Amino acid sequence: MMNCLQSWPEPVVRVQSLAASGVRAIPERYIKPPSHRPLTKNDFSPPQEANIPVIDFQNVFSDDQRLRDEALRNIHSACHEWGFFQVVNHGVSHELMKRTSEVWREFFKLPVEVKQEYANTPATYEGYGSRLGVEKGAILDWSDYFFLNYMPESLRNPNIWPATPASCRELVAEYGHEVCKLGGKLMKAFSINLGLEEDLLLKAFGGEENVGACLRVNYYPKCPQPDLTLGLSPHSDPGGLTILLPDENVAGLQVCRKGSWLTVKPVPNAFIINIGDQIQVLSNAIYQSVEHRVIVNSNKDRVSLALFYNPKSDLLIEPSKQLVSDERPALYPPMTYDEYRLYVRTKGPCGKKQVESLKSPRPCSEC
Ligand code: OGA
Ligand code: NI
Repeated sequence: MMNCLQSWPEPVVRVQSLAASGVRAIPERYIKPPSHRPLTKNDFSPPQEANIPVIDFQNVFSDDQRLRDEALRNIHSACHEWGFFQVVNHGVSHELMKRTSEVWREFFKLPVEVKQEYANTPATYEGYGSRLGVEKGAILDWSDYFFLNYMPESLRNPNIWPATPASCRELVAEYGHEVCKLGGKLMKAFSINLGLEEDLLLKAFGGEENVGACLRVNYYPKCPQPDLTLGLSPHSDPGGLTILLPDENVAGLQVCRKGSWLTVKPVPNAFIINIGDQIQVLSNAIYQSVEHRVIVNSNKDRVSLALFYNPKSDLLIEPSKQLVSDERPALYPPMTYDEYRLYVRTKGPCGKKQVESLKSPRPCSEC
């Protein structure tokens, strides 16, 4: 199995180069079947809700119990009913967010030959990449990315992070540190909300020193035929939780909500948080990892920074004992994150197929 992940099945094409070449028609490799394109008839139903919930995070650890309870309740219903929310007053410096996003924008502006020095392989995915999954002949997404490991420290290798722009490595280190701190606070809030000890989820992930954190910087070039393709196909995030810094000037992220796609409106200086499959499993499906995708457009390119906060990769992840009972049996078998992510690294984005396929058959009494 590992062998088939050593190299890409086809020559790699940089989407940014395609876009820059001025093609009027996108290559067939990027054309989605009609039912998967951005404008399906579903999208014409009137929007029921305008945006995902926006949560003021500063009250979560307030001394005022009333404010604290209210903030925690809002987070709980967002995790349970939406799987997605935005946080403001999250404690990460707005200046740092701006500078980090800007430095990555500059990186993607560098000539392709320079970026090519960081070309990745599916063995680790670290570096500059243009596809997820190694299936030969797969229909591809309209995006390039840069992927790097931040935590645990043993996997952190700044030597393979971009050396230009000069401040990139330093900013990534500082950004990773601040955003991981926010990840730890979210894990605490989720634990409390699930009725667990406040450090239970973090412990299940291996503790502060051992959690995994990786950064994927997504670059979505302008697209001459945005109605035929997607920047990122529908998927749920395989890890624990995701802290996304969207492009403040261009919308693109769509979240699956009651059977239709809702376009997220980014709030200034907010992060978009979503539940990944591992927290769905640990919470025994009280929290949902929700499908999402990215659309592209013909006027503006878009940069987003996704920090994936994950379990230590060799620990078994299973529904927390406190959330399993006779009435609510464990819905998923134990599995390590190493095993789990092999699927997405092989098949690419695949909706929610993987976590759903894990579901134990229902006990006979419920059939
Ligand atoms: C992701 C993702 C959304 C975006 O990287 O997993 O869903 O807006 N990104 O780029
Ligand atoms: Ni995602």
